[in-house]
Amino acid sequence: MNGRVNVGIVGAGGIFLAAHFRRGYLHVPEARITALCDISEPALRRADKSVKEGFEKRIAELKEAGDADTAALFADDAKRIRLYTDLDKMLSDAKPDVVDVCTMPNSHAPIASKALLAGCHVLCEKPMARTWIDTLPVLDAVKKSGKHYQHNENMIWDPDWYTMKKVVDGGMVGDVMAVYISAAHGGPEGGAAFWDPYKQGGGAMPDMAIHALTTAWFIAGFEKKPVMVQAAAPFGIARRFRRRIIAGGFREIEAEDDAHFMVRYENPDTLEWATTMIEGSWSYQDAPDNAVIGTAGAASFSKDAEGRNFVEVRSAEDSIRRIPVSGPTWEHYPSSYYGEIRDFIRGVQEKRPPMVDAEIGSESQAIVGAAFLSQARGRKPVSIKEFKDYARELLSRHGDKASDALIEESLMGLA
Ligand SMILES: NC(=O)c1ccc[n+]([C@@H]2O[C@H](COP(=O)([O-])OP(=O)(O)OC[C@H]3O[C@@H](n4cnc5c(N)ncnc54)[C@H](O)[C@@H]3O)[C@@H](O)[C@H]2O)c1
Repeated sequence: MNGRVNVGIVGAGGIFLAAHFRRGYLHVPEARITALCDISEPALRRADKSVKEGFEKRIAELKEAGDADTAALFADDAKRIRLYTDLDKMLSDAKPDVVDVCTMPNSHAPIASKALLAGCHVLCEKPMARTWIDTLPVLDAVKKSGKHYQHNENMIWDPDWYTMKKVVDGGMVGDVMAVYISAAHGGPEGGAAFWDPYKQGGGAMPDMAIHALTTAWFIAGFEKKPVMVQAAAPFGIARRFRRRIIAGGFREIEAEDDAHFMVRYENPDTLEWATTMIEGSWSYQDAPDNAVIGTAGAASFSKDAEGRNFVEVRSAEDSIRRIPVSGPTWEHYPSSYYGEIRDFIRGVQEKRPPMVDAEIGSESQAIVGAAFLSQARGRKPVSIKEFKDYARELLSRHGDKASDALIEESLMGLA
């Protein structure tokens, strides 16, 4: 396919409007949004209005910059977008080439599977599903349909981590031994759905740690595979700031608001390994700052007085080299969403599969599951195979309720 790629959006809420649309599609004319689908009529109306305003502003910018052709394309797109409250109707009516899933995690897997089996390529927000069990039908649908599936881990496309990867691949720290990544803030108190573990598959783990662990894996190298996981000091996987104001009430939280764990990755062919230390937190950062430690040096991020970002590589002799960060747009904004969306759309045009695919999304969920299991077993190391055997056993006992059973057992094991 060389022409523009038609995209249907499912879930026209926060991440779609603020990130995918404004920072992504408005800068990716290779894609044409033809349909918006949201089960909430008011959300759909709000999105329609916001998308029209977004196009207007971008068209004015493009005209100002002398790009009349793209301005004309977007002006035409804005007039043609169709609205749906029903996914089946959107699929049969609009027949998009690509479905972009931006709903909450409890609907990611069913929507993605349906869209794949209807013949669409799919890009889907993190986490891939609530649990590893929920990812299995998506893997089947990818296989059956032969369509592309991208697990949207936008941090990989952030100029900081993109530059870090170049530094690592260029051998500037030697062989990677350890990667520290912390994804932490004080909590999404404004979004009640985020605190519902049965909607999300947990709390800070599927919301925050999932970013850090897939990005750490990218830095360690996707050719290595996750093999062992261990919940770790200082807090393991825990409910720490236990009472929060959520949906207008001061209440006990059900899901974890803090997760610390290590993951060991091994290359099955060469047996080379690396360890990553992950923090995913809604209770502020406790772990050391982001860093990559190798056999010949260590790399971290820094800023200069003018606010420019660097990857700072410290060698064995303590010499410091500063590499300016750069990304697909050569600037911070709107790099990460722009990068993930543009690369996927280009991949569809060029028949090139995405780098962060369904296998990586699914294994990321297996890491999450193994970390919960390690916590439940007194922070003992748990292999990915052990976790999968345990999950398959739940599947044979609980059938289509197995994912809920897994979430329930994960919650029971929290500190
Ligand atoms: N990558 C990032 O940086 C980042 C940031 C924020 C959120 N997210 C992820 O994006 C996803 C959505 O988060 P959000 O903050 O946009 O949520 P949101 O609640 O603002 O938006 C979700 C929308 O989906 C709609 N919806 C729910 N079920 C649906 C269904 N079955 N069919 C069609 N529409 C449906 C809702 O009505 C809502 O409008 C989550 O998985 C979240 O983890 C990612």
